[in-house]
Amino acid sequence: MGGRVIRENLFFVGSVHWDRRLFDELIPTPEGTSYNAYLLKDEKATVLIDAVDPSKAGELYENLREAGVERIDYIVCQHVEQDHSGAIAEVAERYPEAVILAHPKAKELIGTHLHIPEERIRTVGDNEVVKVGNFTLTFLHTPWVHWPETVCTFWQEGKVLFTCDFFGSHFSQSGLFADTSDPRLPLGAKRYYGEIMMPFRAQVASNLRKVEGLGAEIIAPSHGPLYDRPSFIFELYRDWSGEGVKNLVLVPYISMHGSTLRMVEHFAQALNAQGVEYRLFNLSVTDLGELAMSLVDAATVVLGTPTVLAGPHPLVQSAAYLASALRPKVKFLSVIGSYGWGGRTLEILQGVLAPLRNAEILPPVIIKGAPRTADFNALDELARNIAQKHREISTVS
Ligand code: FEO
Repeated sequence: MGGRVIRENLFFVGSVHWDRRLFDELIPTPEGTSYNAYLLKDEKATVLIDAVDPSKAGELYENLREAGVERIDYIVCQHVEQDHSGAIAEVAERYPEAVILAHPKAKELIGTHLHIPEERIRTVGDNEVVKVGNFTLTFLHTPWVHWPETVCTFWQEGKVLFTCDFFGSHFSQSGLFADTSDPRLPLGAKRYYGEIMMPFRAQVASNLRKVEGLGAEIIAPSHGPLYDRPSFIFELYRDWSGEGVKNLVLVPYISMHGSTLRMVEHFAQALNAQGVEYRLFNLSVTDLGELAMSLVDAATVVLGTPTVLAGPHPLVQSAAYLASALRPKVKFLSVIGSYGWGGRTLEILQGVLAPLRNAEILPPVIIKGAPRTADFNALDELARNIAQKHREISTVS
């Protein structure tokens, strides 16, 4: 189909992956995703900004061919992860005069991941300006959105900021720009933020401050739609990367014989009575993207687990590991559940959750066998404790 015009001299040459249903072999993508490659082209110069996932490389080559690209001056590799860089090696072969522009930290990664010789690479530092023909490009080092080498690129004449993963969404659509009235859009962006950006929240906030004053008229990420109203995505990122948490308890759980389920259900009613919102995630059927999204702003996580082979159920241990790795801004943690004869469930989960060292551990409710009145009372007490803690830190609804 060739390049789709974004504005004069700027074209979309990437690919929409409508039916991709899993990202990183981990997070479901119910709305698919896209790999946005951009082409700056006029009579004097041609610049390709990022490429596409190798599975969609043919579409990129066809777009370049139909756009009449015979020569590329620069290929900007903003981020070396292969969903953007995977096709760069072949593009570089097809266009042998092209020089790859990348941050110094990317140089070694391009060699190891793409096997491109370093003489093809010109490094660009933070705030470095490269002029090619009529195009003036400023490179901004934006580490950890999503790797340490990642840069954003500001095309000065067009006032377009290319951001690669930063501000991206797992979202497919036929149009180029975000329809901000579509309620699915912020969810796709939040799903993306939860998995990719949240572990680096401090750097996200710092990079947001770095780019929001540039005066960009268009934000052009490398996943999902572009934003012609940058404040829309800036405000979402300010909220997600800020300190505020919601009056919300997440309860990821598994129950094998019903005891833990009875505890979870009673605990949910107790939270409700205390005016605390909750979300239950039966991990045997849960979409982990929903869990990651909810972790973005929940104040509390309470894991519910039976004891299996002397430890937590493996699905609960896995969810605890994921929550720990995603580094949410959760303030309080606890565990509820039932065991048959003994075990080290609590000790093991505390070890898995140890990286969330800023969260306070609230007294767990771990019982033997089926719950009795005293156990339900303990769950009521945990719910009261959580409600009080949420009031103390002024959660929002
Ligand atoms: Fe979309 Fe970090 O790659």
